[in-house]
Amino acid sequence: MAWLDRLTRKSLVDLEAYRPGKPIGEVQRELGLDNVVRLSSNENPWPLPEPVREAVLNAALDVSRYPDPAAYHLKRAIARKWGVSPSEVMVGTGTEGVLYSLFQAIIDEGDEVVFPVPTYSLYRLSATAAGAVCIEVPLGEDLMPNIQGLADSCTTKTKAVVLCNPNNPTGLFVARDDLIKLSNQLESKQTLLIIDEAYAEYVSDPFYLNGVDLFRQLGTVVILRTFSKIYGLAGLRIGYAIAPKPIVDSYAKVRRVFSVTQAGLAAAVVALDQQDYILNIREKTISEREKTTKALKEMGVKVSQTHTNFMLIKIEKSDLICDALLKEGIIVRPGSDFGMSNHIRVTVGLKEENERFVATLRKVLRRLGVR
Ligand SMILES: Cc1ncc(COP(=O)(O)O)c(C=O)c1O
Repeated sequence: MAWLDRLTRKSLVDLEAYRPGKPIGEVQRELGLDNVVRLSSNENPWPLPEPVREAVLNAALDVSRYPDPAAYHLKRAIARKWGVSPSEVMVGTGTEGVLYSLFQAIIDEGDEVVFPVPTYSLYRLSATAAGAVCIEVPLGEDLMPNIQGLADSCTTKTKAVVLCNPNNPTGLFVARDDLIKLSNQLESKQTLLIIDEAYAEYVSDPFYLNGVDLFRQLGTVVILRTFSKIYGLAGLRIGYAIAPKPIVDSYAKVRRVFSVTQAGLAAAVVALDQQDYILNIREKTISEREKTTKALKEMGVKVSQTHTNFMLIKIEKSDLICDALLKEGIIVRPGSDFGMSNHIRVTVGLKEENERFVATLRKVLRRLGVR
């Protein structure tokens, strides 16, 4: 019935849905494999710290009441951690949930949202869902965002620029001076700068500027953070943003009131305190990343520099290689999923997972005649 097709919003007709990394269970079912390794969604593979585990278990047994929609304790804990006011914190179901509601809160039909590409595809999806027109500014040949290009792309219709820092899928970050330059230019154009710092906790470079510092100086940027990466809580769906109060107030009018679960709230409050755990995961990730990178380079595979828990490999026949790895029980992300053909994105996993990945890749490359 054609009229049903015509009900779809016109701006969604050509929009490609998000392509998630395959879940382990799906690969096990489809390929009849027992031992499947997932290195496709940049999760933290190590176990949770004991206090967080306990908080999750306790919350899971106490579910007859709705969760606190005001996220009172979590907002206070986040505000304390960053030296901001609880009225400058908004909580949501991961960065994803925060983004959808944030764009609903600031976008009028036809407003523009600017971002570099390739980047995390959720910006395009969530901004379009809110009625925005997306303006994409290609990365340079060095895979870095074109800072002047981003600022120059803003018109009177532009509500926001989104910057993923460090960027998924490149693993590279815009350094302090460029970030300050961009934020000043956008402020003078009265355009909001939204910085997604999902991987910030993995960065150990002095040229990285923590966006919350920028927020404290300017008060006019939005900083997105998530518990899905280094905190190890991807399955609980919880994230937050530090934002100017007028934006937090608008966000409160459109966000899903009870979407963040009791277990998510309880776990996040405790997780924020686990500084030693976070440093330990960062150290382990960097050590595993360096070992894996070295092994790949010894095989003649090109791995670019990264400041995150994933690596970007430049290689021909990347789709074929990813398919072959999948059949061997290793899930990685083909570059064709994120606009970079001839690339593969691989998450840093546990020691044995990384070793299996390297050994299997060696076998697959030999079989496919790729060097
Ligand atoms: C750039 C970026 N932002 C945010 C996220 C996390 O999203 P969420 O907090 O919704 O799990 C990811 C996960 O892949 C990501 O790559």
